[in-house]
Formats: sequence, structure tokens, C-alpha cells
Amino acid sequence: MKRIILLAAPAAGKGTQAKLICDKYNLEHISTGDLLRDCLRNEDNFSLKIKEIMESGKLVDDATILELLKRKLNNIDGYVLDGFPRTLAQALSYDALLKEKNENLTHVLYLNVDEEVAKKRIVGRLSCGKCGRVYNELIEENKPKVLNVCDVCLEQLTKRKDDNEEVFKERLRVYNESTKDLIDYYKNKGILHEIDSNVDTSMVFNQIEKVLDGDI
Ligand code: AP5
Ligand code: MG
Repeated sequence: MKRIILLAAPAAGKGTQAKLICDKYNLEHISTGDLLRDCLRNEDNFSLKIKEIMESGKLVDDATILELLKRKLNNIDGYVLDGFPRTLAQALSYDALLKEKNENLTHVLYLNVDEEVAKKRIVGRLSCGKCGRVYNELIEENKPKVLNVCDVCLEQLTKRKDDNEEVFKERLRVYNESTKDLIDYYKNKGILHEIDSNVDTSMVFNQIEKVLDGDI
């Protein structure tokens, strides 16, 4: 059974590739960003706190993330983790969780993207609040079939509040400060595969298929 981490800077294409991988390999997509955004539907103190953190581009605390993840992982076996772990503490807690369940992590896919390329991708992004699929109104390959409507669940697409230049800059800074070190952490475990994410969506996915099919 495949258990995969997608490790990458903001807007590198984690959500996009996660959906393609899950569809082809019949896995569950677990995005901690989407889980947090789901929490925002309740208007309690907890969600107000999370909203403020996400809209500033900072990280939500490790304990909250772990709790959300544990709940989600109950009764799920093969999956793609998108946006988790983001700190060494999260990676260590996840290792402990796997050990407890007597399971192993099979692949870490590091989507390597240039900051300038990522910044451009943010501009036209549209997201489906229901299924988490992402589109881009400015990139032909990633446009929805019908303007502003999700191809799969027909929901109205929206722009994320944290998709503006200022917050994006902060998300990149936080990634470089707290998350980038995980590349070496997983490289040392021998399960990290680097994918060039500067190319078209389908070309990125071709590289991922080669890794997951064991050709690399
Ligand atoms: P999260 O939702 O995870 O956001 P992120 O990491 O900033 O990543 P994005 O979702 O912006 O980008 P992506 O890599 O998924 O790219 P996408 O496929 O959409 O987290 C949001 C916030 O939640 C965080 O800032 C933090 O506050 C909190 N949080 C979440 N997890 C946490 C954790 N574990 N710990 C603590 N806090 C946490 O693609 C982007 C665009 O580009 C799309 O429009 C797409 O169509 C297009 N595109 C994708 N690939 C290509 C390609 N190859 N060519 C051309 N266009 C492409
Ligand atoms: Mg995403």
C-alpha cells in the first residue's frame, strides 16, 4: 500500500498532483490545508484563531495539526499527504504514529519549483471548496471546463484569501525557514525523490508515475 508525502513550497503543485495520483492509484488525498479550511466553516473561537494564522501565512501549531491528521487517518490506509509535515516536530510525530500503527511511509516526492514560477501560478488559481481540486484561469492546461465551475462536483470555484502577493511572500519565507530542512530529513531515510515541478502539469505527473511505478 502506498503512503506518500508531497513536500514542496507553496503553489508548487501539491494539490494538483495529489488529485492525479489519488485518481490513478486509488489513494486518499489528505491535505492539512483543506482540513483547516473545512474547520473555518464553523464560526467558533478555534476557527477564528486558525483563520487569522492562515491569512497571515504563518503555520498553525503542531498539536492542532496532529490532532486533525490523526482523526483523518483513522480507517484510511493508502494516502497522499499534501502539506504535511511542515516542521521537524510534525515529521517526528508522524514517524511515531506510523510506528504505532506498524505501517511505513513509501515515498516522499519533493516537487522542486523556482520561486518565480510558483509566484506566477498563484495569480490565477481557483479552488473548489468541496473536493479541493485546483484550477488556474490563466493556464490553458488547468482551466476548468466551464468558467468558475469545478469539473467534478460542479461547485462554484473561489479564490483563496491567502493568495495575495504579501501573504504568499510570508508563506515562502515560512517554508524556507521551517519546512525546507525536511528535504534532508527524508533524503537521509532514502525515500526522497526529486521531481522537476517547473514544467507543465502533465509532465510533472509523468515523472511521478515513473517513480511510483518503480521505474526509477
Ligand atoms: P496549504 O493549503 O497547504 O497551502 P500551501 O502549502 O501554501 O500550498 P498551496 O495549496 O498554495 O499550493 P499547492 O502546492 O497545493 O499548489 P496547487 O496545486 O494549488 O496551506 C495553507 C495554510 O494552512 C498554511 O499557510 C498554514 O497556515 C496552514 N497549514 C496547512 N498545513 C499545515 C501544517 N501541516 N502545519 C501548519 N500549518 C499548516 O497549484 C497552484 C496553482 O498552479 C494552481 O492554480 C494550479 O492549477 C497551477 N499549477 C499546478 N501545477 C502546475 C504546473 N505544473 N504548471 C502550471 N500550472 C500549475
Ligand atoms: Mg494546496
